[in-house]
Amino acid sequence: MNFVEDIKKKYLRLLNECLDLKNLEDLKVSLLGKKGTLTLKMRELGTMPLNDRITLGPELNNLKKQILDEIKIKKEFFQKESIEKKIKSDKIDISIPSRKENFGTIHPVSQVSEEIITIFSDLGFLVSDGPQVENDWYNFDALNIPPEHPARQEFDTFYIKNDQNSSQNLNVLRTHTSPVQIRYMEEFGIPCKIISPGRVFRSDYDQTHTPMFHQVEGLAIGEEISMANLKWVLEEFCKAFFEIENVELRFRSSHFPFTEPSAEVDIKCSWADKKLVIGKGDEWMEILGSGMVHPNVLKSVKVDPKKYQGFAFGLGIDRLAMLKYGIPDLRNFFDSDIRWLKHYGFNFFDVPSIHSGISNT
Ligand code: PHE
Repeated sequence: MNFVEDIKKKYLRLLNECLDLKNLEDLKVSLLGKKGTLTLKMRELGTMPLNDRITLGPELNNLKKQILDEIKIKKEFFQKESIEKKIKSDKIDISIPSRKENFGTIHPVSQVSEEIITIFSDLGFLVSDGPQVENDWYNFDALNIPPEHPARQEFDTFYIKNDQNSSQNLNVLRTHTSPVQIRYMEEFGIPCKIISPGRVFRSDYDQTHTPMFHQVEGLAIGEEISMANLKWVLEEFCKAFFEIENVELRFRSSHFPFTEPSAEVDIKCSWADKKLVIGKGDEWMEILGSGMVHPNVLKSVKVDPKKYQGFAFGLGIDRLAMLKYGIPDLRNFFDSDIRWLKHYGFNFFDVPSIHSGISNT
């Protein structure tokens, strides 16, 4: 029997019967591996007479090539088949509804702080920061608040022990952002034009008061700063913040130890149908405290009050957020209730800007 024909027939049949890549690989090894039928036969060539070698050699080589070609074709077939199978089983069903994504929201206090910062930055104010744990000097004395002032009493202010653990010179959780006035002038001197947003603490709790809330302090000191500048800055701020053309502000004479004269500022509003509208109507709503910085405050940071003067104001961020976005109860601000946050929170892409809009309602 002719060896070459025999092998060829046998292997072409076996090749046909291969079912997968593994069968194919086994078949290849059995024929062309180290101890494969064809390999052994080729090795035998060396011991054969020259004539046989001359005829059998090329035949074996041809056979090898032919079978390798067939194996290659079959291999490609199996590979293609397995890819197609995978594509079929990996099919994406685009009709299945997507999973609900739960995005967080920006808290109204953060959003309104950004709005306030955006507006005052545009008016040329720098943003400054101060510690929430203060000492008596920065929170009271340097601000001309006398020892007998009611704000210093324990039922109003949270006192905390200082490092020495003594009951004298207690630290306080700052009751307002005004200490930043002192810290800023001490560190950077004057002239200055700053705002300072941050947390403040007072012992208070009802619908419009929480023990922790947020204020923005404003301070502008220079040689020629007057109350008229204060009025203009606040009017510009209210116009931009409430996004109304005409605001009417009322400066009501008041008293703060750190300003003289002092004024509380009310904004015109309407409560018709129990709905608050800013800028219309004939009612007034208090929005901030302000005044010309008291000479004693300037003296406490070694600034000559005869040469320099300026204004300061302090407004409640939470209160402005309640007014602008119609949020009725301050206490919910700090409950961390996801449903409340979803309702009143802001999208994180709603970045306030002078050019594209301060608010995003
Ligand atoms: N610090 C005052 C308060 O907390 C607000 C204020 C700041 C008033 C600056 C006048 C000037 O009520």
